[in-house]
Amino acid sequence: MRLALVSDIHSNIEAMEAVLADIKSMGVDRIYCLGDIIDYGPNPCEVLDIAIEKFAMSILGNHEEALMLVAEDFNERAMRSVEWTREKLNDPEMAREKRQKYWNYLDELSKKRQHQQGDLLFVHGSPRKPTHEYVFPKDSLDQAKIKGMFAKFDRFCFCGHSHIPGIYSETGKYGHPKNFPNGELDLRRFRKLLVNIGSVGQPRDHDTRSCYVILDNSKLIFRRVEYDYEKTIQKILDTKKLPTFLAERLKLGK
Ligand SMILES: [Fe+2]
Repeated sequence: MRLALVSDIHSNIEAMEAVLADIKSMGVDRIYCLGDIIDYGPNPCEVLDIAIEKFAMSILGNHEEALMLVAEDFNERAMRSVEWTREKLNDPEMAREKRQKYWNYLDELSKKRQHQQGDLLFVHGSPRKPTHEYVFPKDSLDQAKIKGMFAKFDRFCFCGHSHIPGIYSETGKYGHPKNFPNGELDLRRFRKLLVNIGSVGQPRDHDTRSCYVILDNSKLIFRRVEYDYEKTIQKILDTKKLPTFLAERLKLGK
């Protein structure tokens, strides 16, 4: 089975549609999402429509948690974005059934913080703290953190949240996918591996292209997909309410 793993879409419909087209061209059977479908970007409803229709499995991100439960470590600017997203989902111009459909979906999502399937564990943040802990390349040097995280899963763990793609070995090595031939990796080389799948809607590794992963049995493929970020940027600026840095960072990939 070919599985596409996406994460951190952040209400970016241009990025999501570009990634969906790429997923289609790759002959994928199912799409799993590792959280942060919404917030930051200008199109929460449109991205939720795709999630509801196309994702076979989704888990809670910290941005859905902020909207539905509690906003942990959100500053004033981040809260502005959460509240703008809430307004959009409650838009009185939208049919009541549609609003209900979004809130019901988010409510279900709030109950799912991780997903285990055979020897694969899927989380938003890290295997230690599934919704909140970030995994950054510099963490590969933190032996205590690596050890703590690797103690929480048996073979392969997939996460998002930091928006920086890459693999982490239990011996403390980090690898960015640009260093893998064709972005491909043979998982059979590893006894255990932690994989950050990157971000669809707000990449932060100085590459503006959307990032996602295809898992085909033991083969892992990191995909990068160009999208029209200028269009997304203009939409963010047009809202007049979303913080402008959310637009600026899309053209920097950070
Ligand atoms: Fe995120």
